[in-house]
Amino acid sequence: MKQVRIGMIGYGFMGRTHSNAYLQSPRFFPTEHRPVLKAVCARNKDKAEEFADRWGYESVETDWRELLKRDDIDAVDICTPNNLHKEIAIAAAAAGKMILCEKPLAMNSAEGEEMVEAVEKAGVANMVWYNYRRVPAVTLAKQIIDSGKLGRIFHYRANFLQDWTISEDVPQGGTATWRLDVQAAGSGVTGDLLAHCIDTALWLNGSITNVTAMTETFVKERVHAETGEKKPVGIDDACAFLCRFANGSLGLFESTRYARGHKALYTFEVNGQHASLRWDLHDLHRLEYFDHADESKVRGWRSIHVTDSDHPYMGNWWVPGLQIGYEHTFIHQVADFLKGLDTGEEVHPTFRDALETQRVCDAVLNSAKQGNWENV
Ligand SMILES: NC(=O)c1ccc[n+]([C@@H]2O[C@H](COP(=O)([O-])OP(=O)(O)OC[C@H]3O[C@@H](n4cnc5c(N)ncnc54)[C@H](O)[C@@H]3O)[C@@H](O)[C@H]2O)c1
Repeated sequence: MKQVRIGMIGYGFMGRTHSNAYLQSPRFFPTEHRPVLKAVCARNKDKAEEFADRWGYESVETDWRELLKRDDIDAVDICTPNNLHKEIAIAAAAAGKMILCEKPLAMNSAEGEEMVEAVEKAGVANMVWYNYRRVPAVTLAKQIIDSGKLGRIFHYRANFLQDWTISEDVPQGGTATWRLDVQAAGSGVTGDLLAHCIDTALWLNGSITNVTAMTETFVKERVHAETGEKKPVGIDDACAFLCRFANGSLGLFESTRYARGHKALYTFEVNGQHASLRWDLHDLHRLEYFDHADESKVRGWRSIHVTDSDHPYMGNWWVPGLQIGYEHTFIHQVADFLKGLDTGEEVHPTFRDALETQRVCDAVLNSAKQGNWENV
């Protein structure tokens, strides 16, 4: 058994999903490398200690720089708001640590480029938590597309819809609402939600060449949680874009936090010459598949319940027919990362893969600003 001693920075939403994944992965996906929860880092010592106690971390740090100095940390897990990703990642690479970084990789692609350079120069294992690739139904979609069953791809369509910022009383900044503060988040729904859709799209359908986008900020001013002052809102509340993929297909993407009734409606659909696929996060264990080669009398959309032992990842879980959920995507990502350490193979998405998503995000935001088509 080889230990991978984890130092996790930030203990919020993602801190919990990752901690759970480190604990569960070796139980369901045995690997030679095993995570050890060595330290959690956050500014508030009491809260960090409470978190460490609950999840089984051996120690706490209140300054991430101190964490990086420790010899008993092999891998740094960045679960902080986006404005800290670059600084921590570059310092962690210089300290020779492996890095698992939350998405989006950075505030923009200029930052992302520096981060890629740093990890590649240091030669440290690196990965970005675009976890939706590891929903078994999404991995199955990848396998079906790669097998050629869809033939030539014509269309890729994706949505990520939420409704939690409609009220003008939601503040910007601070612990729970940093996503509304452009200084902490870099962008709004583009970096937060569309980045997921773009990562999946690049993985399933190849590179995006050019985009044309529109964004809107529906609530122009919000109180800042840290200062109590009303300030202009710098993020995009909603974003829609059209794009072309290098394989000749057309893309249509939409994201908003103003779609009343939708909490986390991430859907995508791919239409090919012979067959189509669609997936919906609210029904994440199902993959819808239409095959034109079926006998016409019984032809129709199949709803594949992705729970059989020959479906991706499912052989390591329960018996066929029993489902898994959201948290398992992180467990799969940890399992693949550890397997990559066992075999010496790179695990995707790497920082370099995530930089490609960042470049598309930048092109989308630039296009919305300029009103032009933008090359990626
Ligand atoms: N993969 C996904 O699906 C997914 C989902 C949600 C969030 N994220 C990403 O994860 C990251 C964190 O988001 P979250 O939802 O967990 O946020 P959160 O607000 O729940 O947690 C952020 C944590 O960072 C800590 N933090 C802030 N500044 C710090 C500092 N200087 N030193 C140490 N800790 C500090 C906060 O105390 C908090 O514990 C973001 O980059 C976000 O985009 C990814």
